[in-house]
Amino acid sequence: MKTLTKPFTFATRLKCANCDQGYPLSAINTYAKCCNQPLVVEYDPSLTFHKTQLESRQHSMWRYAEMLPVFDRGNIVSLGEGMTPLFPLSKLASNYGIPELFIKDESVNPTGSFKARGISAAVSKAKELGITRCIVPTAGNAGGALAAYCAKAGMECTVVMPRHTPAMFKQECEMYGAVLILVDGLINDCAKKTAELNSDGSYFDVSTLKEPYRLEGKKTMGYEIAEQLNWQLPDVILYPAGGGTGLIGIWKAFKEMMSLGWISGPLPRMIAVQSKSCAPILYALKDQQNWKNSFTPRPTIANGLAVPYPFGMDMMVQVLEESGGMALAVDDEEIAAGVKEIARTEGLLIAPEGAATWKALLHLVQGGQISRSEKVLLLNTGSGYKYLDNFA
Ligand SMILES: Cc1ncc(COP(=O)(O)O)c(C=O)c1O
Ligand SMILES: [Zn+2]
Repeated sequence: MKTLTKPFTFATRLKCANCDQGYPLSAINTYAKCCNQPLVVEYDPSLTFHKTQLESRQHSMWRYAEMLPVFDRGNIVSLGEGMTPLFPLSKLASNYGIPELFIKDESVNPTGSFKARGISAAVSKAKELGITRCIVPTAGNAGGALAAYCAKAGMECTVVMPRHTPAMFKQECEMYGAVLILVDGLINDCAKKTAELNSDGSYFDVSTLKEPYRLEGKKTMGYEIAEQLNWQLPDVILYPAGGGTGLIGIWKAFKEMMSLGWISGPLPRMIAVQSKSCAPILYALKDQQNWKNSFTPRPTIANGLAVPYPFGMDMMVQVLEESGGMALAVDDEEIAAGVKEIARTEGLLIAPEGAATWKALLHLVQGGQISRSEKVLLLNTGSGYKYLDNFA
């Protein structure tokens, strides 16, 4: 392992998401074996970081470096991720009478999705810890991102992906020099294959929330939402949830910014949007013990939402409950119509996952759970260009 140099981060330790057991940041860790839950990074609450310090900083997620887990700046593997645009959907806002409607557009990240954030943090920390071989089961976008960041870092990369994923997700992995393995099934089947391939422990497994640092990269969306809205958070955030890192990460960012004194409450209601083809969060909210046996997962055109058994389910449920939010599922026909509508009205070809949040919003406005006068933020997590096969 490389010697770690002087920290510039405020990170102090990893902690089990369920109990208080600590794990060192300077060793390779995966998840909290004490409770079979994810590990989360803790930061020193006594250090000061003023939001005015951000003004002169680089236009990437690494502007929040004190609140990211890398010790030595030299280990950062960056392709320019983060600081994505946040702007009003003005035509939809006026057509539907929801005047304060905003989108954060993650499609402009490297490799065309928000996965770049988490993978930049994970690969940077992996580099710092001397890791040279990574593997990941993926619904698509995380695989492409890992392939690109491993290429930049000079690491070997293996991606395990469902065979039915649109061609571009597969081609990009190969272009970036990764080994691509296709599996019949969904991401949980890819996870089984990954475990088989890694039975000798020769790879570092970057699976969602079984690796502690992707969450830290994803949380920067929360920091940016606050900064870009001049520290006045929305009333409601709709997020397309699969494994849940973005949802959990944005909430973690809000909590951290409260303790930094950057924002004050109330915090937004967090809404998890899923596809009716695979909506485990809805079942988990009803029965947190037995949800795994309550449904049969099917593929969806919003590939990233087909995550039947998320490892971070307990954390997602906690965020939804704590924020006063909820989960909602929309069907694939609606999602496809949403992609087309947003392309034709707003000139944005967004990922089906992002379009699902728009359709969910309309249901919630109609049902009275969201009022038309509220400030609403939709998260578009990726580019629609990679999914065109799903529309053929
Ligand atoms: C475009 C897109 N949106 C949303 C998700 C779900 O992300 P998360 O794991 O953060 O819930 C994915 C995951 O693959 C994705 O690719
Ligand atoms: Zn524990």
